[in-house]
Amino acid sequence: MSFKLEILGFLLLNFFVLSMAQSLRTVNWVLEETNYTRLCSSKKILTVNGLFQDLLLHVHKGDRHGVKQPRNPWSDGPEYITQCPIKPGANFSYEIIFSTEEGTLWWHAHSDWSRATVHGPIIVYPANGTTYPYSKPSEEFPIVLASWFKGDVMELIQSALESGAEPNQSDAFTINGQPGDLYNCSKPGTFKIMVDYGKTYLLRIINAIMNEEMFFKVAEHNLTVVGMDGAYIKPIYTDYIMITPGQTMDVLITANQSPSEYYMAARAYAGLQYDNTTTTAIDQYSGNYTAPSTPAFPILP
Ligand SMILES: *[C@@H]1O[C@H](CO)[C@@H](O)[C@H](O)[C@H]1NC(C)=O
Ligand SMILES: *[C@@H]1O[C@H](CO)[C@@H](O)[C@H](O)[C@H]1NC(C)=O
Ligand SMILES: *[C@@H]1O[C@H](CO)[C@@H](O)[C@H](O)[C@H]1NC(C)=O
Ligand SMILES: *[C@@H]1O[C@H](CO)[C@@H](O)[C@H](O)[C@H]1NC(C)=O
Ligand SMILES: *[C@@H]1O[C@H](CO)[C@@H](O)[C@H](O)[C@H]1NC(C)=O
Ligand SMILES: *[C@@H]1O[C@H](CO)[C@@H](O)[C@H](O)[C@H]1NC(C)=O
Ligand SMILES: *[C@@H]1O[C@H](CO)[C@@H](O)[C@H](O)[C@H]1NC(C)=O
Repeated sequence: MSFKLEILGFLLLNFFVLSMAQSLRTVNWVLEETNYTRLCSSKKILTVNGLFQDLLLHVHKGDRHGVKQPRNPWSDGPEYITQCPIKPGANFSYEIIFSTEEGTLWWHAHSDWSRATVHGPIIVYPANGTTYPYSKPSEEFPIVLASWFKGDVMELIQSALESGAEPNQSDAFTINGQPGDLYNCSKPGTFKIMVDYGKTYLLRIINAIMNEEMFFKVAEHNLTVVGMDGAYIKPIYTDYIMITPGQTMDVLITANQSPSEYYMAARAYAGLQYDNTTTTAIDQYSGNYTAPSTPAFPILP
């Protein structure tokens, strides 16, 4: 879903979610500024309920009274919902019917670059009584790829608009809000998934990066893409994915390698050149083993 926000103040958003029980589930979101520190520098960012990326929306696919809504522009695309920006202190309510989508979607703000920090996953589980078209994974992990700017994103876009120049590049790409081991001051926060040998996991990967196509790969593990943009697809077996801005991919990964730690990494494909900024997270096996001093690193294409 998309909604417009404008003001860097305190606003309240009532966000209505229709889940499948034909009942209206209401989620209250307060848009507020919160201090966050990344790359050794702190700033205020616009967040929902003070959370940066930790706000998950879980729903089940479901119709209400059999009413079909026109398909909403869940994935990337132009603004279909042209709500006016929400004024500070004002409330805004929006009702969503998850009638056709199943898989991973995401929500984000739509005013200037507020979406840099105001976004998060929407996980649409199968309707009751139905199941995934693939073996149920042992566990699921959202993997949100995003951009971190040390500067104020609103000023950044404003000054770019005024000068006509390209807006500043982001200072880091992030996985679940963390730049990862390869960036300065970022190691302690690096995102990790814990896996058990022999089990299969679902990664719900979202490219929320402002304007970059991203490569994503896990060291020494293959991937099976089973869904895209809130729909199932014929499974694609691959060793890496390329995900475009706004796109989501549901990807199965089986922990079938020697128990250890492995990097998962994402980096941009910009024009004809590979960018040398890479964001990482760690795939960590359970069990007793000597952790490598540096986890195995995927060879990115
Ligand atoms: C679907 O399942 C959930 C959890 O088991 C339950 O709370 C809900 O009432 C069910 N909905 C329907 C329509 O059966
Ligand atoms: C947020 O950071 C600013 C300076 O960067 C500081 O003055 C302020 O006290 C901080 N607020 C909170 C709630 O930590
Ligand atoms: C917004 O909603 C909150 C909580 O429901 C309420 O206290 C407040 O008065 C509302 N504000 C406006 C401007 O309607
Ligand atoms: C953009 O980058 C320039 C050069 O590094 C810097 O001087 C400027 O402060 C940046 N603007 C913002 C809004 O961060
Ligand atoms: C990382 O930190 C070191 C030491 O503080 C500094 O010399 C280097 O320029 C920093 N690198 C980046 C990319 O900011
Ligand atoms: C990944 O797939 C390739 C091609 O099918 C295969 O050669 C390779 O052994 C697989 N690697 C793993 C870790 O399963
Ligand atoms: C790549 O790294 C080099 C040196 O570490 C740096 O000078 C260059 O600006 C970087 N390129 C990009 C696109 O970030």
